[in-house]
Order: sequence, then structure tokens, then C-alpha cells
Amino acid sequence: MPVVAVIGAQWGDEGKGKVVDLLAEEARVVVRFSGGDNAGHTVVNRYGEFKLHLIPSGIFSPRATSIIGNGVAINPGVLLDEIDQLNQRGVDTSRLIISDRAHLVMPYHLLLDGLEEEMRGGKAIGTTRKGIGPAFADKIARLGIRTGDLLDREVFRERLHFILNYKNTILTKVYGASPLSEDEVYRQYCQYGERLAPCIRETTVLLEEAIKRGEMVLLEGAQGTLLDPDFGTYPYATSSSPLSGGSCLGAGLGPARIDQTLGVFKAYCTRVGGGPMPTELADETGNLIREQAHEYGTTTGRPRRCGWFDAIAARFSTRINAFTQVAVTRLDVLDIMSSLKICVGYELDGKPIDYFPASAAALDRCQPIYEELPGWQVPTSEARQYDQLPALARRYTDRLEELIGCPVSLISVGMRREQSIFKMPLW
Ligand code: GDP
Ligand code: IMO
Ligand code: MG
Repeated sequence: MPVVAVIGAQWGDEGKGKVVDLLAEEARVVVRFSGGDNAGHTVVNRYGEFKLHLIPSGIFSPRATSIIGNGVAINPGVLLDEIDQLNQRGVDTSRLIISDRAHLVMPYHLLLDGLEEEMRGGKAIGTTRKGIGPAFADKIARLGIRTGDLLDREVFRERLHFILNYKNTILTKVYGASPLSEDEVYRQYCQYGERLAPCIRETTVLLEEAIKRGEMVLLEGAQGTLLDPDFGTYPYATSSSPLSGGSCLGAGLGPARIDQTLGVFKAYCTRVGGGPMPTELADETGNLIREQAHEYGTTTGRPRRCGWFDAIAARFSTRINAFTQVAVTRLDVLDIMSSLKICVGYELDGKPIDYFPASAAALDRCQPIYEELPGWQVPTSEARQYDQLPALARRYTDRLEELIGCPVSLISVGMRREQSIFKMPLW
């Protein structure tokens, strides 16, 4: 059985949670490898509807071990709430393991996320304000505190003392904010540590052993490729890598271990927060998609910006991730449309271009060049096989496949696990 990386191919919220929940039925290990509780992954299965922020979407699979990998920034309070809520709803979380190398989101990260956003004024990124950017910045600056540090109170106290002194200086001297109490933070995080300790451990050996036994392993991405700090619409980006390359670092395995890279695309585009989005529809059609699909952020509730499918961005995403196959989700949302547009090129300062510019300012000036296709105007949510889709819906997904340059193996036509069409065997 393969090792499969499930990667957000656009600006996040592509339906990664649904796809991972579906594929996890066969998996033995599911690893969340990046982001933090800025992510919101929706799963609808026999247990009900869930919005997961930190726990892998494979948690519902009775045979799978769920790992929160070293590449995730963990707010332990949020994680414990999530565990409690799942348990209250009858979901067993005893197979959850947390990497001892994962960094912690600390109270000052939350404060600084808000203060930095306010400092940016009109150029605010529109972060989720979950402290994720400051937590990853500290990781790279070697000022982070990791889950493993909670297992040794002396180590934790010493590290917290040094770092909190520095953070309090920034909070008070740069931002004029109040300092945090070391004793309070220490006490609270020791309590978190006590509860989480049984789950915190080294995770790469377990992963390697599962791979050697030939078991199926899923690597669950958070966010989407176009939010990557290197390749996304910088600086309107997140702070950890959602790419297939990021899955190796964030789960703790080498690139040669990955057999399949599944890119998850919505049948159109959405984005939450600031930054360029060439195909955004700031009109009635955009509102129609938002209301039809209830496109509101899973984590923050903010309305998502909606627009047509962007094939230039999609090809870029496919290239830098090396997708071996693609899932197209939310096809059913387009059932009501009488005609559909796909962006097949950009015009930048009056000249046609066929690449995704590195500069957010340039991308902001790009005018989409559209191709128009007829809508099918028939419900698709009951289709379970590719040939049950209306011919015009097949024509649309075939055209997406051609433009993306990678086979579409899975089509999703609803929120529920079973509302899925395997167009071809995945492996
Ligand atoms: P993620 O962050 O990539 O896991 O995606 P989110 O959960 O944030 O957002 C995707 C939304 O689309 C959720 O509300 C899902 O329940 C929903 N969804 C996923 N696939 C489909 C689909 O094929 N059709 C419809 N109508 N909704 C879907
Ligand atoms: P999932 O995993 C959509 C966006 C924020 C903001 C930018 C930076 O559910 O697809 P951050 O809080 O990460 O510093 O915010 O990234 N963003 C997401 N957008 N889905 C997500 O996760 C996102 N996580 C962060 O809206 O524009
Ligand atoms: Mg989401």
C-alpha cells in the first residue's frame, strides 16, 4: 500500500479533510504535517459533522494511528478541547500520537499575531490570529518551545524564563502592551503537558516501521499551495509549507518514501484573508457561489472570496508539488450555473502571460483570460460513478484535467464521505 501526500492545491479549504477521511478507511497511519489551528478541516461521516483544527482527519478510522507531526504548531489548549469534544461525541482518540518535536503556540504568539496585523494597517495579511505566524517565526529563530520540553519541567521552566523575558520586552517596549506572567503561563502549560504527556513521543520510527510493513500512510496537508511562504502569494501567505516537499519535513520522512501526491482542487477558487486572486468575482456570481456553497471560513467564519477556476495557478501548483493525481471537489456547487468560466491565461500590463508571477503586486494587476463552457444545470450530488455525471459536467472536469496537466482520479459531489466518485483506481 502506498504512502500518499494529500495536498491543498489552491488557497486552502479545498476539501482536504473530506478526502483524507475518505482515504483513511484503508490507511494505518495518518500524519498532519504542517500548519496549526489556523486550519479547519471538515469531515462528514457516520459520526456526524466535525471541524478539525489540529487532529488528523484520519482519527475516525478505527485501524489508523493519527500523528500530529513535528511540522505542526500546536496550541495545546485548543488540542485538548478538540480531544474532549471528539470523545464526548463517541470518537476514540486513544490512537493519537504527538511528535515531541512539534512546536507549541504560546500565549505571546496569539498576542503578537494580533499586534503585528494591526501594525500592518491597510497591508494586513488577514491572518486567522491563531498565533501561527509568530510560532513558526520563533521556530526558525530558535526561540521555540516544543511539546517534548513539557515532559521535563526544569527544562521547560528555564526555557520559558529566558524566552518570556524577551517576549515581554517586545510586548511592552515595542507595542506598549501588558507583559505576561511567567508563573501563570508556566502553571497553565504544565497542566497541558500533564494531560498530553502520554501522547507525546518520537514518531519517525513508528512511521518508518509502518512503511516497511507496506501499510498505507496518509500525509495530511493544511492550507494550500498558493499560501506557501516560498511559492504562494508572498507576503500574503501562511508560515509553514503546505507543499508535498513540506510533507517530508513536517512528517519526518524522505522524499523517496512518497508514492503518490494527490492534489486537492475545488472546482472553482476561494480565498480567505488578503492578497491577490485574479479570478475573484466581486459580483452577484461570486455571492451566488458563496451562498450556494456556504463559503465561510471553517476556523474564523469570515466570508470566503469566490471566483472561477484558475488553470494558470493550477498548473503552477501541479508543477511545484509534482502531483501524480488530482481530486476535484465541490463539483455539485456548480450545478446551478448556466455557464462556467475557466481562467486559461493572464494579461499583465496589456501583455498575455502564461505563468504565475512571483510578485503579489504583479499578480494583483493580472487580468484573467477566460474560456467559457456551458453549465449542466442538473443535480450531481447523487452520482457515484463517473458515467452518472451529466455529459457537460464530465466535459468540465475533463477540461480541468487537460489544463491542470494531471489525471483526475477522484471527484467529490457533496460533503458526505460517500458523495465521492472514483474516476479511476487510485493505486
Ligand atoms: P479543508 O480545509 O481543505 O479540509 O476544507 P474545509 O473543510 O475548510 O472546507 C471545505 C468545505 O467544503 C467543507 O464545508 C466541506 O464539508 C465541504 N465539501 C467538501 N467536499 C465537498 C463537495 O464535494 N461538495 C460540497 N457541496 N461540499 C464539499
Ligand atoms: P485549511 O487547512 C484557508 C490563510 C489566512 C490568511 C493567511 C495567513 O483549512 O485549508 P495564518 O493564520 O496562517 O498566519 O494566516 O493564510 N489561511 C487559510 N486559508 N484555509 C486554511 O487552512 C488557512 N490557514 C491559513 O486566512 O490569509
Ligand atoms: Mg479549511
